[in-house]
Amino acid sequence: MGIKQTVGNKRVSTGIDGLDELLMGGLPQGSVTLVSGTPGTGKTIVCFQYIDEGLKHGENCLYLTSDERISNLIHQAKELGFDFQSAVDNGQLKFLYLDLERRDIHKEMDDTIKTGGYTRVVLDSLTPISEIPVWLVNKGNEIIPSEIPSDRNTFPIDSVQAIRTHVRRLMSILEEDDCTTLVTSEIPEGSRCLSRDSISEFLVDGILLLDLDSTMDRRKLTIRKMRGTKHTLKPQDIEITEGGIRLL
Ligand SMILES: Nc1ncnc2c1ncn2[C@@H]1O[C@H](COP(=O)(O)OP(=O)(O)O)[C@@H](O)[C@H]1O
Ligand SMILES: [Mg+2]
Repeated sequence: MGIKQTVGNKRVSTGIDGLDELLMGGLPQGSVTLVSGTPGTGKTIVCFQYIDEGLKHGENCLYLTSDERISNLIHQAKELGFDFQSAVDNGQLKFLYLDLERRDIHKEMDDTIKTGGYTRVVLDSLTPISEIPVWLVNKGNEIIPSEIPSDRNTFPIDSVQAIRTHVRRLMSILEEDDCTTLVTSEIPEGSRCLSRDSISEFLVDGILLLDLDSTMDRRKLTIRKMRGTKHTLKPQDIEITEGGIRLL
């Protein structure tokens, strides 16, 4: 990311066969990559494969989700062939449920990432958390996401500017030197944007775009951006099967 100096030459495997080769070996270590797509395009499955790859290498992994049904996620992963339950049991994988009602949600994320020693982090998905109310405090000089308003003059704001400031704050929490991060973003059907908030694509080091053509019954994965990497822009044909996403 912009102020971060640690995006270096080391590469982190995505866990998707064939994709690392298109990325000069994988994701740049320490980078944050946005995984964008409309619903059902395979964003969560990309995250599963990424986490599974880390587990195979004995890495500590963190899966942040605002879906409280973590057991469902573990079950979905299992259906695709990823055994996350034993990784949770042995402490190698942590699922953290981000309760969007909680005022200290950012602190919880920050503390967990800073103290957990994780090398792989997934935020699935950025969209609901980026849309929680933010508050204008300190006579309007400061925008604070989801904090307890301390005075009566505090009020929630709902502007593009506020959402952007909030997304910047979220991204800075995810910028941890030693971990390489995937962040999913839901794009509305038919949109040409790369994220719903239309700011996160500018803040991240990389963008993987997932797409589907229901008429042709085809799926695609495109590397739209990857800092420090010479890569093809050509959409790659993919399929989702047992084991996850595979390049065709
Ligand atoms: N075992 C499977 N075999 C083939 N396709 C699958 C399988 N499991 C899931 N899928 C496909 O993956 C889609 C869900 O992918 P997911 O990563 O959850 O999407 P997103 O997170 O982008 O909304 C399903 O709608 C289905 O089309
Ligand atoms: Mg999903």
